[in-house]
Amino acid sequence: MTRPEAVAGVGDADLDGTTAFVTGATHGVGRETALALGRLGARVLVHGRDRTAGRALANELRELDAEPVFVRADFADPDAPGELADAVAERVDELDVLVNNAGAHFDGPSLVDGVERTFRVNHLAPFELTRELLPDLSSGGRVVTVASAIHERATAADLEIDAVTDVDDYDGFRAYARSKLANVLFSRELAARHPDKLVNCLHPGFVPGSELWREASLPVSVLMRGLSVLPAFVLERIVDTPRTAAATSVYLAAADDYDVTGEYFSNCSPKMPSEAARDDALAAELWARTESLVADPPTVPAED
Ligand SMILES: NC(=O)c1ccc[n+]([C@@H]2O[C@H](COP(=O)([O-])OP(=O)(O)OC[C@H]3O[C@@H](n4cnc5c(N)ncnc54)[C@H](OP(=O)(O)O)[C@@H]3O)[C@@H](O)[C@H]2O)c1
Repeated sequence: MTRPEAVAGVGDADLDGTTAFVTGATHGVGRETALALGRLGARVLVHGRDRTAGRALANELRELDAEPVFVRADFADPDAPGELADAVAERVDELDVLVNNAGAHFDGPSLVDGVERTFRVNHLAPFELTRELLPDLSSGGRVVTVASAIHERATAADLEIDAVTDVDDYDGFRAYARSKLANVLFSRELAARHPDKLVNCLHPGFVPGSELWREASLPVSVLMRGLSVLPAFVLERIVDTPRTAAATSVYLAAADDYDVTGEYFSNCSPKMPSEAARDDALAAELWARTESLVADPPTVPAED
């Protein structure tokens, strides 16, 4: 089966002596990204929630001499990003690549510490984790954030404080799209603030065979399961598998033929994101709003 580094054209890259950290590496796109970086010679730290899958991945990475460490953290827990950053910082002298890959889609509404759960897991957590790990990132270090083409379905209004702290009219798809627009804007603003790093985000492709749809509505899960059981050679022609979808993350982590920062990539090439995602003022506003949500979480009304 096709390897992501081959799809990305970086099969000859030599990452020996570098250290990468991949979040959400226990399944799907993140798992394939971590394995590819290990095959290319990097030391690879990995994160997820599923201890069994984390240990299995660490064993595979050990066979590649990738000196793995698996760290468990649930991004729905407001304390998790800071604790995860501390755990990673303790284990590395310097980090060369951070891949913000972990992400989730929730069909049902939930507020966690006053913030809508998808926004917390997909945006607040990588925002905080990245900020905490920046001092450990090498000069020229890379931050790769896995967004989605679905960001195009969200608008600036979806990112208002009232919208991300309320679930009365919750729509899982809209919440997911909003969180992915936040990923693109976060990456853009991070690049502007840290010109000494390479900071980019990406759309991995459409991957019905990943676990992303585990909490989707019944019709969506049935459709995704149906697509994902097609034979790999058929599947790879019509949609992406976790392996092919990891290519752009692996490219941004390993390629030495690009030096752009603050861009959005798809199929290993820069692509124009939506108009809202190119709005520098919105990116700066979102950064400030996110900082205040992290520092001063909204008060949750007491139950009667
Ligand atoms: N699948 C697609 O079609 C598609 C399309 C565009 C973009 N993406 C993006 O690609 C990235 C990877 O998705 P995927 O398709 O590979 O999905 P996946 O198979 O569900 O993998 C998601 C990873 O994120 C972790 N994760 C989920 N919820 C978490 C939480 N609350 N705290 C910490 N970690 C959590 C999971 O950990 P555990 O399994 O250990 O719980 C898993 O390792 C996501 O950012 C997603 O939004 C996917």
